[in-house]
Amino acid sequence: MLVNAKEMLTAAKAGHYAVGQFNINNLEWTKAVLQVAQEMKAPVILGVSEGAGKYMGGFRTVQAMVEAMDKEFGITVPVCTHLDHGTYEGAYKCIKAGFTSIMFDGSHFPIDENVAKTVELTHAAHMLGLTIEAEVGAIGGEEDGVVGMGECADPDECKRIADLGVDMLAAGIGNIHGKYPANWKGLSFETLAKVQEKTGLMPLVLHGGSGIPDEMVKKAITLGVSKVNVNTECQLSFAAATRAYIEAGKDNEGKGYDPRKLLAPGFEAIKQTIREKIKLFGSDGKA
Ligand code: 13P
Repeated sequence: MLVNAKEMLTAAKAGHYAVGQFNINNLEWTKAVLQVAQEMKAPVILGVSEGAGKYMGGFRTVQAMVEAMDKEFGITVPVCTHLDHGTYEGAYKCIKAGFTSIMFDGSHFPIDENVAKTVELTHAAHMLGLTIEAEVGAIGGEEDGVVGMGECADPDECKRIADLGVDMLAAGIGNIHGKYPANWKGLSFETLAKVQEKTGLMPLVLHGGSGIPDEMVKKAITLGVSKVNVNTECQLSFAAATRAYIEAGKDNEGKGYDPRKLLAPGFEAIKQTIREKIKLFGSDGKA
């Protein structure tokens, strides 16, 4: 059931759990997220970066695929199609494509420009029933060419953006996209607590959800995080399972080269990672 993220995130904030945003990369990913969400009765967000959207044939193709699968699989849990780290132009493309939610990442602009663009896009999104995520304080690492230094957000700037009426807020708290380096200092719970204090009921978003120790994720949820984004961990489990299949020579056995067989172990591996994350976030049984 395609919906925006409003209700699922309001319920998560009130219920002290987090909804998983799983980024999708192709058909296997989309199928895996939808099927596991349904199996676990969990609301879910499908994250689509601009790069992944382009790779899959454009946002309209992605939206059409999700809508069709939602019907074909009889998905009854709430599912949201959400632009991840959108540019101003990308946000409008997703609005036109029928997405149910967008993220505008204006964190690299001076705060006044981030505010001005966020206000405009919030108005456009809300007029058409979409939800919108804003960002303050860059997330570290690199994702699809979007590079951030991992600085912690200024809690006062977070309040300023939250007061614009956005539906969810990504605040940098030392989190990093991709693999965490060995010398990573961990999440700044001090920053998170201050952001939470300033932004009240605003659902907060933890990006870079791959590789953060479980205990840290749980603590972040108790401090007001209502959405956790995961991409890299699904990619790593897909790659490891595919490698094992090929290294075992299974692609040379019978029709093991058939993509439906070749991609099956990776598909199952993504599903398992998603199951573990949904359990960790506490969103199972919430739909
Ligand atoms: P990871 O790839 O580190 O899981 O981050 C995903 C993310 O934050 C998407 O916005």
